Amino acid sequence: MRVTHSGRTVEVQNGETVLDALLRSGENIPYSCKAGSCQSCRMRVVSGSVPEAAQVGLKETLRAQGYFLACSCRPDGDIEIESDIQVQSVVGVVRARDRVGEDVLRIRLEIDDELDYAAGQFVSLVRSDGLARAYSLASIPGDPSLELHVRRMPGGRMSGWIHESLGVGDAVSLRGPFGSCFYVPGRPDQRLILAGVGTGLAPLLGIARDALARGHEGPVDLFHGALVSGRLYGVDVLRNLERCHRPFRYHACALNESQGDPETLRVGAISDIVLSSVKETLATSRVFLCGDPGFVNDLRKRLFLAGASMQEIHADPFTPTGSTTDAN
Ligand SMILES: Cc1cc2nc3c(=O)[nH]c(=O)nc-3n(C[C@H](O)[C@H](O)[C@H](O)COP(=O)(O)OP(=O)(O)OC[C@H]3O[C@@H](n4cnc5c(N)ncnc54)[C@H](O)[C@@H]3O)c2cc1C
Ligand code: FES
Repeated sequence: MRVTHSGRTVEVQNGETVLDALLRSGENIPYSCKAGSCQSCRMRVVSGSVPEAAQVGLKETLRAQGYFLACSCRPDGDIEIESDIQVQSVVGVVRARDRVGEDVLRIRLEIDDELDYAAGQFVSLVRSDGLARAYSLASIPGDPSLELHVRRMPGGRMSGWIHESLGVGDAVSLRGPFGSCFYVPGRPDQRLILAGVGTGLAPLLGIARDALARGHEGPVDLFHGALVSGRLYGVDVLRNLERCHRPFRYHACALNESQGDPETLRVGAISDIVLSSVKETLATSRVFLCGDPGFVNDLRKRLFLAGASMQEIHADPFTPTGSTTDAN
Protein backbone atom coordinates (compact mmCIF):
# COMPACT_ATOMS: atom_id res chain seq x y z
CA MET A 1 0.00 0.00 0.00
CA ARG A 2 1.22 3.50 -0.80
CA VAL A 3 0.23 6.90 0.48
CA THR A 4 0.88 10.08 -1.49
CA HIS A 5 1.10 13.37 0.38
CA SER A 6 2.42 16.72 -0.90
CA GLY A 7 3.70 15.07 -4.09
CA ARG A 8 5.73 12.40 -2.23
CA THR A 9 4.79 8.73 -2.17
CA VAL A 10 5.55 6.56 0.84
CA GLU A 11 5.20 2.80 1.23
CA VAL A 12 2.91 1.85 4.17
CA GLN A 13 4.17 -1.34 5.81
CA ASN A 14 1.87 -4.12 6.93
CA GLY A 15 -0.15 -3.02 9.97
CA GLU A 16 1.43 0.44 9.97
CA THR A 17 -0.69 3.57 10.28
CA VAL A 18 -0.54 6.40 7.75
CA LEU A 19 0.80 8.66 10.52
CA ASP A 20 3.67 6.30 11.36
CA ALA A 21 4.53 5.80 7.67
CA LEU A 22 4.71 9.57 7.09
CA LEU A 23 6.73 10.18 10.26
CA ARG A 24 9.12 7.34 9.35
CA SER A 25 9.69 8.97 5.97
CA GLY A 26 10.70 12.21 7.70
CA GLU A 27 7.51 14.21 7.16
CA ASN A 28 6.61 16.71 9.85
CA ILE A 29 3.02 15.65 10.59
CA PRO A 30 1.40 17.03 13.76
CA TYR A 31 0.08 14.48 16.22
CA SER A 32 -0.49 14.13 19.94
CA CYS A 33 -2.29 11.10 21.42
CA LYS A 34 -1.73 8.58 18.59
CA ALA A 35 -4.89 6.95 19.89
CA GLY A 36 -7.68 8.45 17.78
CA SER A 37 -8.71 10.81 20.53
CA CYS A 38 -7.25 14.29 20.10
CA GLN A 39 -7.76 14.79 16.33
CA SER A 40 -4.39 16.61 15.97
CA CYS A 41 -3.50 14.28 13.07
CA ARG A 42 -6.68 14.94 11.07
CA MET A 43 -6.11 14.81 7.28
CA ARG A 44 -8.27 14.52 4.18
CA VAL A 45 -8.31 11.78 1.56
CA VAL A 46 -8.23 13.11 -2.02
CA SER A 47 -8.34 9.81 -3.91
CA GLY A 48 -8.86 6.25 -2.78
CA SER A 49 -10.70 5.42 0.44
CA VAL A 50 -9.91 5.05 4.12
CA PRO A 51 -11.28 2.36 6.49
CA GLU A 52 -14.24 3.26 8.73
CA ALA A 53 -12.01 2.95 11.82
CA ALA A 54 -10.03 5.98 10.65
CA GLN A 55 -13.13 8.21 10.88
CA VAL A 56 -14.43 7.16 14.32
CA GLY A 57 -15.21 10.22 16.45
CA LEU A 58 -15.44 12.65 13.51
CA LYS A 59 -18.65 14.52 12.79
CA GLU A 60 -20.78 13.19 9.93
CA THR A 61 -20.09 16.33 7.84
CA LEU A 62 -16.32 15.83 8.16
CA ARG A 63 -16.58 12.11 7.35
CA ALA A 64 -18.54 12.94 4.20
CA GLN A 65 -15.78 15.32 3.10
CA GLY A 66 -13.15 12.61 3.47
CA TYR A 67 -11.53 13.72 6.72
CA PHE A 68 -9.86 10.96 8.73
CA LEU A 69 -7.38 10.45 11.57
CA ALA A 70 -3.95 9.44 10.28
CA CYS A 71 -3.05 7.65 13.55
CA SER A 72 -6.03 5.28 13.20
CA CYS A 73 -5.71 4.73 9.46
CA ARG A 74 -4.35 1.41 8.18
CA PRO A 75 -5.26 1.70 4.51
CA ASP A 76 -6.24 -1.32 2.43
CA GLY A 77 -5.37 0.32 -0.92
CA ASP A 78 -3.30 3.18 -2.33
CA ILE A 79 -4.48 6.62 -1.24
CA GLU A 80 -3.65 10.24 -1.90
CA ILE A 81 -4.14 12.59 1.03
CA GLU A 82 -3.77 16.26 1.93
CA SER A 83 -3.25 18.20 5.14
CA ASP A 84 -6.32 19.53 6.93
CA ILE A 85 -7.07 22.94 5.46
CA GLN A 86 -9.61 23.71 8.22
CA VAL A 87 -6.93 23.69 10.88
CA GLN A 88 -5.35 27.06 11.61
CA SER A 89 -1.74 27.60 12.62
CA VAL A 90 -0.93 30.58 14.82
CA VAL A 91 2.02 31.74 16.87
CA GLY A 92 1.41 32.36 20.56
CA VAL A 93 3.67 34.51 22.72
CA VAL A 94 3.60 33.77 26.45
CA ARG A 95 2.34 36.90 28.23
CA ALA A 96 1.88 35.37 31.68
CA ARG A 97 2.66 32.14 33.50
CA ASP A 98 1.31 31.58 37.01
CA ARG A 99 1.47 28.58 39.29
CA VAL A 100 -2.19 28.08 40.20
CA GLY A 101 -1.86 24.67 41.86
CA GLU A 102 0.76 22.35 43.29
CA ASP A 103 1.67 21.04 39.82
CA VAL A 104 -0.43 23.24 37.51
CA LEU A 105 0.69 26.28 35.51
CA ARG A 106 -1.73 28.76 33.96
CA ILE A 107 -0.28 30.06 30.70
CA ARG A 108 -1.68 33.11 28.90
CA LEU A 109 -0.74 33.41 25.23
CA GLU A 110 -1.19 36.35 22.90
CA ILE A 111 -1.66 35.13 19.34
CA ASP A 112 -0.58 36.78 16.09
CA ASP A 113 -3.83 36.04 14.26
CA GLU A 114 -7.47 35.29 15.04
CA LEU A 115 -8.21 31.73 16.13
CA ASP A 116 -11.78 30.77 15.34
CA TYR A 117 -12.53 28.51 18.30
CA ALA A 118 -15.36 27.53 20.60
CA ALA A 119 -14.79 27.57 24.36
CA GLY A 120 -13.89 24.05 25.51
CA GLN A 121 -12.00 23.08 22.35
CA PHE A 122 -8.29 22.33 22.43
CA VAL A 123 -5.17 23.22 20.47
CA SER A 124 -2.06 21.27 19.64
CA LEU A 125 0.98 23.02 21.08
CA VAL A 126 3.97 22.32 18.86
CA ARG A 127 7.55 22.78 20.05
CA SER A 128 10.25 23.84 17.60
CA ASP A 129 11.55 20.22 17.41
CA GLY A 130 8.08 19.01 16.32
CA LEU A 131 6.96 17.56 19.68
CA ALA A 132 3.22 18.26 19.93
CA ARG A 133 0.66 17.83 22.70
CA ALA A 134 -3.01 18.75 23.08
CA TYR A 135 -4.03 21.40 25.62
CA SER A 136 -7.57 22.58 26.26
CA LEU A 137 -8.59 26.21 26.12
CA ALA A 138 -9.84 27.69 29.38
CA SER A 139 -10.45 31.06 27.71
CA ILE A 140 -13.49 32.08 25.71
CA PRO A 141 -13.54 33.85 22.32
CA GLY A 142 -13.22 37.57 22.99
CA ASP A 143 -10.76 37.16 25.88
CA PRO A 144 -7.55 39.13 25.20
CA SER A 145 -5.42 35.96 25.33
CA LEU A 146 -5.65 32.18 25.12
CA GLU A 147 -5.50 30.46 28.51
CA LEU A 148 -4.08 26.97 29.05
CA HIS A 149 -3.71 24.97 32.29
CA VAL A 150 -0.76 22.60 32.13
CA ARG A 151 -0.26 19.88 34.72
CA ARG A 152 3.30 18.65 35.09
CA MET A 153 3.46 14.90 34.37
CA PRO A 154 6.33 13.02 36.05
CA GLY A 155 8.90 12.49 33.28
CA GLY A 156 6.65 14.36 30.86
CA ARG A 157 8.54 15.79 27.90
CA MET A 158 6.20 18.60 26.94
CA SER A 159 4.71 19.43 30.34
CA GLY A 160 8.19 19.31 31.93
CA TRP A 161 9.53 21.68 29.27
CA ILE A 162 6.57 24.05 29.71
CA HIS A 163 7.04 24.11 33.49
CA GLU A 164 10.80 24.46 33.43
CA SER A 165 11.77 26.29 30.25
CA LEU A 166 8.88 28.12 28.57
CA GLY A 167 9.14 31.69 29.81
CA VAL A 168 7.28 34.98 29.40
CA GLY A 169 8.08 36.40 25.94
CA ASP A 170 8.75 32.97 24.39
CA ALA A 171 6.80 31.95 21.29
CA VAL A 172 5.19 28.60 20.51
CA SER A 173 3.24 27.26 17.53
CA LEU A 174 -0.38 26.31 18.00
CA ARG A 175 -2.57 24.30 15.65
CA GLY A 176 -6.30 23.92 15.92
CA PRO A 177 -8.91 24.26 17.11
CA PHE A 178 -9.97 20.63 17.63
CA GLY A 179 -12.72 18.81 19.46
CA SER A 180 -16.48 18.89 19.76
CA CYS A 181 -16.92 19.22 23.52
CA PHE A 182 -18.41 22.72 23.66
CA TYR A 183 -21.64 24.57 24.46
CA VAL A 184 -24.10 25.00 21.62
CA PRO A 185 -26.66 27.74 22.32
CA GLY A 186 -30.27 26.66 22.59
CA ARG A 187 -32.50 25.27 25.35
CA PRO A 188 -31.37 27.99 27.79
CA ASP A 189 -33.38 26.43 30.66
CA GLN A 190 -31.67 23.05 30.47
CA ARG A 191 -29.49 21.97 33.38
CA LEU A 192 -25.77 21.80 32.51
CA ILE A 193 -23.62 19.34 34.45
CA LEU A 194 -19.86 19.82 34.12
CA ALA A 195 -17.48 17.38 35.81
CA GLY A 196 -13.72 17.05 35.66
CA VAL A 197 -10.60 16.12 37.56
CA GLY A 198 -7.21 17.85 37.49
CA THR A 199 -6.72 20.13 34.48
CA GLY A 200 -10.04 18.82 33.14
CA LEU A 201 -11.13 22.07 34.79
CA ALA A 202 -9.65 24.10 31.88
CA PRO A 203 -12.24 23.27 29.19
CA LEU A 204 -15.06 23.17 31.78
CA LEU A 205 -14.25 26.70 32.91
CA GLY A 206 -14.38 27.88 29.29
CA ILE A 207 -17.67 26.06 28.63
CA ALA A 208 -19.30 27.41 31.83
CA ARG A 209 -18.20 31.00 31.15
CA ASP A 210 -19.34 30.73 27.53
CA ALA A 211 -22.79 29.38 28.46
CA LEU A 212 -23.27 32.12 31.08
CA ALA A 213 -22.08 34.83 28.68
CA ARG A 214 -24.65 33.60 26.16
CA GLY A 215 -27.43 33.97 28.74
CA HIS A 216 -27.92 30.35 29.82
CA GLU A 217 -30.54 30.46 32.58
CA GLY A 218 -30.82 26.85 33.74
CA PRO A 219 -28.59 25.57 36.58
CA VAL A 220 -24.91 25.25 35.64
CA ASP A 221 -23.28 22.80 38.10
CA LEU A 222 -19.51 22.44 37.91
CA PHE A 223 -17.94 19.56 39.87
CA HIS A 224 -14.14 19.61 40.19
CA GLY A 225 -12.36 16.74 41.89
CA ALA A 226 -8.93 16.10 43.41
CA LEU A 227 -7.41 13.61 45.84
CA VAL A 228 -7.27 16.21 48.62
CA SER A 229 -8.71 19.72 48.80
CA GLY A 230 -5.21 21.26 48.69
CA ARG A 231 -4.82 19.98 45.13
CA LEU A 232 -7.92 21.77 43.84
CA TYR A 233 -7.05 24.93 41.96
CA GLY A 234 -8.95 27.86 40.46
CA VAL A 235 -11.13 28.02 43.59
CA ASP A 236 -11.18 31.85 43.73
CA VAL A 237 -12.11 32.14 40.06
CA LEU A 238 -14.93 29.63 40.47
CA ARG A 239 -16.27 31.20 43.68
CA ASN A 240 -16.22 34.57 41.94
CA LEU A 241 -18.18 33.10 39.01
CA GLU A 242 -20.69 31.82 41.56
CA ARG A 243 -21.06 35.31 43.07
CA CYS A 244 -21.55 36.96 39.68
CA HIS A 245 -23.90 34.43 38.04
CA ARG A 246 -26.94 33.11 39.84
CA PRO A 247 -27.31 29.85 37.82
CA PHE A 248 -23.69 28.81 38.43
CA ARG A 249 -22.77 26.45 41.28
CA TYR A 250 -19.27 25.21 42.04
CA HIS A 251 -18.89 21.86 43.82
CA ALA A 252 -15.37 21.24 45.14
CA CYS A 253 -14.84 17.49 45.68
CA ALA A 254 -11.99 15.77 47.53
CA LEU A 255 -11.54 12.01 47.77
CA ASN A 256 -9.20 11.58 50.73
CA GLU A 257 -10.34 14.18 53.21
CA SER A 258 -11.40 13.21 56.72
CA GLN A 259 -14.22 15.75 56.71
CA GLY A 260 -15.28 18.80 54.78
CA ASP A 261 -17.21 21.94 55.51
CA PRO A 262 -20.44 20.90 53.76
CA GLU A 263 -20.83 24.51 52.58
CA THR A 264 -17.58 24.46 50.60
CA LEU A 265 -16.30 20.89 50.18
CA ARG A 266 -17.89 17.58 49.20
CA VAL A 267 -15.95 14.55 50.44
CA GLY A 268 -15.86 11.30 48.45
CA ALA A 269 -15.40 10.05 44.90
CA ILE A 270 -16.41 12.77 42.45
CA SER A 271 -18.33 10.29 40.25
CA ASP A 272 -20.49 9.22 43.22
CA ILE A 273 -21.04 12.86 44.22
CA VAL A 274 -22.10 13.83 40.69
CA LEU A 275 -24.48 10.89 40.39
CA SER A 276 -26.14 11.44 43.75
CA SER A 277 -26.50 15.20 43.15
CA VAL A 278 -28.04 15.18 39.69
CA LYS A 279 -29.94 11.89 39.47
CA GLU A 280 -33.44 13.38 39.35
CA THR A 281 -32.76 15.73 36.44
CA LEU A 282 -30.33 13.54 34.50
CA ALA A 283 -32.72 12.57 31.70
CA THR A 284 -33.13 16.22 30.66
CA SER A 285 -29.61 17.53 31.39
CA ARG A 286 -26.63 18.26 29.17
CA VAL A 287 -23.35 16.84 30.46
CA PHE A 288 -19.70 17.77 29.87
CA LEU A 289 -16.91 15.49 31.15
CA CYS A 290 -13.19 16.32 30.86
CA GLY A 291 -9.83 15.10 32.11
CA ASP A 292 -8.40 11.69 33.02
CA PRO A 293 -9.68 9.09 30.48
CA GLY A 294 -10.48 6.51 33.21
CA PHE A 295 -12.65 9.01 35.07
CA VAL A 296 -14.35 10.32 31.91
CA ASN A 297 -15.16 6.91 30.44
CA ASP A 298 -16.36 5.48 33.76
CA LEU A 299 -18.64 8.42 34.60
CA ARG A 300 -19.99 8.57 31.05
CA LYS A 301 -21.07 4.93 31.35
CA ARG A 302 -22.58 5.43 34.82
CA LEU A 303 -24.50 8.55 33.80
CA PHE A 304 -25.89 6.78 30.75
CA LEU A 305 -26.98 3.79 32.84
CA ALA A 306 -28.62 6.23 35.30
CA GLY A 307 -30.74 7.78 32.53
CA ALA A 308 -28.69 10.43 30.70
CA SER A 309 -28.99 10.50 26.93
CA MET A 310 -25.73 9.54 25.15
CA GLN A 311 -26.31 12.43 22.69
CA GLU A 312 -26.31 14.83 25.62
CA ILE A 313 -22.99 13.63 27.05
CA HIS A 314 -20.03 15.55 25.61
CA ALA A 315 -16.63 14.29 26.66
CA ASP A 316 -12.96 15.13 26.27
CA PRO A 317 -10.74 12.40 27.71
CA PHE A 318 -7.13 13.61 28.05
CA THR A 319 -5.68 10.50 26.41
CA PRO A 320 -1.88 10.37 26.85
CA THR A 321 0.30 10.12 23.76
CA GLY A 322 0.72 6.59 22.46
CA SER A 323 -1.98 5.27 24.78
CA THR A 324 -4.23 2.48 23.64
CA THR A 325 -7.00 3.73 25.95
CA ASP A 326 -10.39 3.44 24.35
CA ALA A 327 -11.72 6.95 24.22
CA ASN A 328 -15.18 5.96 23.24
C1 LIG B 1 -7.93 16.34 24.00
C2 LIG B 1 -6.85 16.49 25.03
C3 LIG B 1 -6.81 17.64 25.82
C4 LIG B 1 -5.81 17.79 26.79
N1 LIG B 1 -5.83 18.91 27.57
C5 LIG B 1 -4.90 19.04 28.55
C6 LIG B 1 -4.90 20.19 29.41
O1 LIG B 1 -5.71 21.12 29.27
N2 LIG B 1 -3.96 20.26 30.38
C7 LIG B 1 -3.03 19.26 30.57
O2 LIG B 1 -2.20 19.39 31.49
N3 LIG B 1 -3.00 18.17 29.76
C8 LIG B 1 -3.89 18.05 28.76
N4 LIG B 1 -3.86 16.95 27.93
C9 LIG B 1 -2.75 15.97 28.09
C10 LIG B 1 -1.53 16.49 27.29
O3 LIG B 1 -1.83 16.46 25.90
C11 LIG B 1 -0.28 15.61 27.49
O4 LIG B 1 -0.61 14.27 27.27
C12 LIG B 1 0.32 15.80 28.87
O5 LIG B 1 0.69 17.15 29.09
C13 LIG B 1 1.58 14.90 29.04
O6 LIG B 1 2.47 15.20 28.01
P1 LIG B 1 4.05 15.10 28.26
O7 LIG B 1 4.74 15.27 26.96
O8 LIG B 1 4.44 15.99 29.38
O9 LIG B 1 4.22 13.60 28.78
P2 LIG B 1 4.81 12.35 27.93
O10 LIG B 1 6.26 12.57 27.71
O11 LIG B 1 3.94 12.14 26.74
O12 LIG B 1 4.55 11.18 28.96
C14 LIG B 1 5.37 10.99 30.13
C15 LIG B 1 4.84 9.84 30.93
O13 LIG B 1 3.61 10.19 31.56
C16 LIG B 1 2.58 9.30 31.18
N5 LIG B 1 1.36 10.11 31.04
C17 LIG B 1 1.18 11.14 30.19
N6 LIG B 1 -0.05 11.67 30.38
C18 LIG B 1 -0.63 10.94 31.36
C19 LIG B 1 -1.89 10.98 32.00
N7 LIG B 1 -2.82 11.89 31.69
N8 LIG B 1 -2.15 10.08 32.97
C20 LIG B 1 -1.23 9.16 33.31
N9 LIG B 1 -0.02 9.06 32.74
C21 LIG B 1 0.27 9.93 31.78
C22 LIG B 1 3.02 8.72 29.85
O14 LIG B 1 2.40 7.48 29.57
C23 LIG B 1 4.53 8.60 30.08
O15 LIG B 1 4.83 7.45 30.82
C24 LIG B 1 -4.83 16.78 26.96
C25 LIG B 1 -4.85 15.64 26.13
C26 LIG B 1 -5.84 15.49 25.19
C27 LIG B 1 -5.85 14.26 24.32
S1 FES C 1 -6.13 11.48 17.06
FE1 FES C 1 -4.34 11.05 15.96
S2 FES C 1 -2.76 11.84 17.17
FE2 FES C 1 -4.53 12.11 18.39
